[in-house]
Amino acid sequence: MHDMGEDIKVIRLDCTDSTNNYAKQLAKNGEKGNVLVIAKRQTAGRGRLGRSFYSDTGGAYFSLLIHTGLKAEDGYILTALAAVCAAQTVEQISEKKCLIKWVNDVYTDNKKLCGILTEGACDNSGGFEYAVVGVGINVYEGNGLPEDIKDTATSVFGKKEINAAVIENLIGIFTKKYLAAVNGSHEPFINEYRRRSMLNGKTVSYQKNGLTHTATVICTDEKCRLVLNENGKEIRVSAGEVSVKPE
Ligand code: BTN
Repeated sequence: MHDMGEDIKVIRLDCTDSTNNYAKQLAKNGEKGNVLVIAKRQTAGRGRLGRSFYSDTGGAYFSLLIHTGLKAEDGYILTALAAVCAAQTVEQISEKKCLIKWVNDVYTDNKKLCGILTEGACDNSGGFEYAVVGVGINVYEGNGLPEDIKDTATSVFGKKEINAAVIENLIGIFTKKYLAAVNGSHEPFINEYRRRSMLNGKTVSYQKNGLTHTATVICTDEKCRLVLNENGKEIRVSAGEVSVKPE
């Protein structure tokens, strides 16, 4: 494994239901250190909003259990940093150029390449007792992506023969970048997250209080909220409140 320059335990699994579940269970069992859990495939990979995440052999599926001094309300930082680090990592190892689709997806060629699922538990003072940052990157496609996602998802290297060392190297590069980002100044990463936004100028719809709203995206703000123009009025929405689908 790539030198990650940090004290982190690595657990490699051939198969698990979800590396996020595995990492959360470690934390619940009292693990106080940072742990990277990697699986070759997952039987119940999860995404945001209860969605499933395609997790067959050929992808990079991993979760970082970290103990951070961040407040729970700043959890968006963990996801934003991960999106930027995933984009940078993919660009470092391939010819792909990546954008970020608010709030937790990395896209290339207008298709989803990577999803991020951040979970955690709070302590009594509103901080994270622990956080689990789960990342799934489609690296290879095997015989092709499944029917239900083949038009909306893509991979870094397509149908090339799966090379486990490439996947391992990708995870190592990501982890080194991510730990440095979390422990360093977040601002440059948040700025990069905002610059890589693929929704700017797009018309989007979102659900709030059971109603469908339509608005135009102006930008992403310094707290990674989406700034929208809805009928001439500027509003800001955060990931916890709404999910946005481009029209
Ligand atoms: C999304 O698309 O909404 C987020 C997908 C996150 C998938 C990764 S794969 C590794 C980790 N384990 C999971 O069950 N989910 C995350």
